Parts: sequence; C-alpha cells; structure tokens
Amino acid sequence: MKLSRSWRGRAAATIVAAPSGSENPVTQPIILQISIFSPMNYPVPVARHKHGSIVNGPGQTVQQNRIFAIAPMMDWTDRHCRVFHRLLSSRALLYTEMITAKAILHGDRQKLLGYSAQEHPVALQLGGSDVDELAQAARIGADWGYDEINLNVGCPSPRVQNGQFGAALMATPELVRDCVSAMRQAVDIPVTVKCRIGIDDQDEQTALDDFVGAVAEGGCRRFIVHARKAWLEGLSPKENREVPPLNWNRVYRLKQDFPDLEIVLNGGVLSVEASESHLDHVDGVMLGRAAYQNPYLLTAVDSVFFDSPGPPASRDDILKRFIAYAEIRCAKGVRLHQMTRHILGLYQGEPGARAFRRHLSIKAVKPGAGVEVLHGALALMEETRGAHAALVA
Ligand SMILES: Cc1cc2nc3c(=O)[nH]c(=O)nc-3n(C[C@H](O)[C@H](O)[C@H](O)COP(=O)(O)O)c2cc1C
Repeated sequence: MKLSRSWRGRAAATIVAAPSGSENPVTQPIILQISIFSPMNYPVPVARHKHGSIVNGPGQTVQQNRIFAIAPMMDWTDRHCRVFHRLLSSRALLYTEMITAKAILHGDRQKLLGYSAQEHPVALQLGGSDVDELAQAARIGADWGYDEINLNVGCPSPRVQNGQFGAALMATPELVRDCVSAMRQAVDIPVTVKCRIGIDDQDEQTALDDFVGAVAEGGCRRFIVHARKAWLEGLSPKENREVPPLNWNRVYRLKQDFPDLEIVLNGGVLSVEASESHLDHVDGVMLGRAAYQNPYLLTAVDSVFFDSPGPPASRDDILKRFIAYAEIRCAKGVRLHQMTRHILGLYQGEPGARAFRRHLSIKAVKPGAGVEVLHGALALMEETRGAHAALVA
C-alpha cells in the first residue's frame, strides 16, 4: 500500500516514445505506417506518430492515447495472423505471442522475432523473471524494430509457473519492478505489463494496487489488466480464462486509483461497441478471443476508436489482400495452412461461412497446397452469395 500511495503523488510521463532505429532488414525504422495496401501489397506510408496519434497537419494531432489492442495469444497471434488483423484495422495495436527471454537469447531469432513491416504498431510480449535476461531480450526486441515491449504477468500455465514467471509474478511486485526498470534502461520504447487482477487468495483490492504501485516505480506507465484472477492450482490455462469471475469494475477502480497511468482493460469484451463503452472508465481495451474468432469485427476499430476510415473493408476485399500476402509467403516456403488457419472466422455469420471453413480446413493442409485454394474459397463465397441472393429475391 505504501508503494502505491507514494506513487500516486507523481507526475505522469507521456508514453509515446520515438522508435529506435532498426537493425532488422524486414522492418522499416522510424516512420511507421498505416497499412493501406497498394495492388502490389506494399504498405503506403501515411504520416503518423506511434500509438494513437495521427499527424493531421502541422502541429495538429487527433485521438491521442486511445488504445485498441489485440491480445497476445500463444499459437494464435503469430506473424501471419497479425498481418491478417492488420488488413482489418490499420490502427489496432498488435501483440506477438509470448516469447520467453531465454528463447530470444538462445534460439533462432529470425523464426521467433521476424515479422512484416505492415504489422506496425506491434508489441513484443516477453516471458521471464530474470532481470538481466529480460533486459537483454528487450534490447534485442527493440533492435528488431518492435514498438513496445510487454512483460507477461498473467499466464497461469504450469510450465510457465515452473519457470517462475507469468501470473505467479503477481506475488512478487518488487521483482517485476526490478525487471521493468532494467528493461526500461535497456530500451527507449515503452515497456508495459499485462497482468491479472490477482492470483489465488490475494485480496483483489490491495494486492493489485500494491502490484501496480510497485511496478510503476520501475517505470511502467501502461498496464493491461485481464479482469479476472488466475487460480494457479487446479485450473487449466483455458479454464483460467473462463472460470474465475470477470470483474471489470476492479479495473475501473484501478484507473481511479492511478489516474496518471494508462490502464487497458482486457477480458470478456466481445465487440468494438462494448470496447468503446469501457473507454468511459479506462484508457484502452484489448480483445482476445472475440477478435480471433470473429475477426471482421475489427473493421470497425479505426472509425470507432481513431476516427479514421481504415482499410477498404468488404470480406472479399480482405480475402483478396490476404491472398496477395499468402502468395509472397508461399513463395518463401511457408505452408499455406500455417496462414489460412487464422482466417477461418472471416465470414462468420454470413451465408457460406461453414463451407468456407470446410474448404480451407480440408484443402489448405494438403501437401503442396498453394493460393489456388484461397482463390477457390473466394469463388465459393461469391457463388454462395449469388445463390443466396437469388433465393431471397
Ligand atoms: C489461445 C490463447 C493463447 C493465449 N496466450 C497468451 C499469451 O501468450 N500471453 C498472454 O499474456 N495472454 C495470453 N492469452 C490470454 C489473452 O491474452 C487474454 O488475456 C484472454 O484471452 C482474455 O481476453 P479475451 O476474453 O478477450 O479473450 C491467451 C489466450 C488464448 C485464448
């Protein structure tokens, strides 16, 4: 409690930071881009600053500091998924899957960290609890051109607990503070934390305030809070996303207690409209499963959150743009299914949605499958729509 109180008196720092130069050939440094795709599938640059601040003319900015993010999701938000999401929203902040600091230090960095320029703004989520390892991994992430480094303090999986990180770290705020402090010293991009409202039998009120107060002392200005506890014993990670009750009010109160911090609410938000209503209480919203399972909802993000028109947005247009991307990646040896598995929900709620999923699930996994499978899926949807229109006419 003492720590959080002592924090409260301080002035806020602005979270927007200039991106560091990139040593990574696949990224474009300094000037990030809104991805409006040209026919060649290259992003067309539009002047903007990072995260929620568009340059509208000399000295003018609009819509600062509203955050809409798509959650880090292991096995889901890989680079192909993120490119797909970027086609649906130019402005959503994207997150990688969690990557452990150790993996980054010792593993295949191209495989772990490689991404496409059009993904910006994109944050790298790290897992770990070793101060030096995290600082080094953060530095490497910044060198690769990521826009933000996020520390995972929310994952309840037993494997992660064995490594003494993820949600278990909520019990050791001072260690997280030290990790954040070391990471901040290592990079000049924002270092943020994604946490729960508590773990196990922690008191949601005091434990969360103490945690956030301490970690803010390490220099974290943005907290993404999954609005339910993690129960570290007896629940699977999946159950831990469903069983502990949601408590959005607790996150709202956190913002009241720490008005100068950016608080982003996560957990159980199902639509962009619902996200907008949370903005009366917090600075931003992060969507996970809803965005992945019903990705077309993301087409509303740019206008609702950022007052900007966003990319052209019929489902077929999105699919055509994704085909252009998949063609390039297939030529580089990526298996079609690795990409198409993320787009199965594109036509959710539309006539033919099931046939679309079935077509891709069966055909994209075949050895040697190429973008003709996606062209076939597009033709199938056009046909289905024609037949449906004739039926209702
Ligand atoms: C398949 C899956 C994998 C996830 N992996 C991560 C992860 O790597 N890092 C993390 O911080 N959270 C992870 N999460 C949790 C989400 O980021 C998010 O906090 C959670 O799903 C609640 O948000 P939602 O109700 O909008 O889905 C994962 C969730 C899912 C469904």
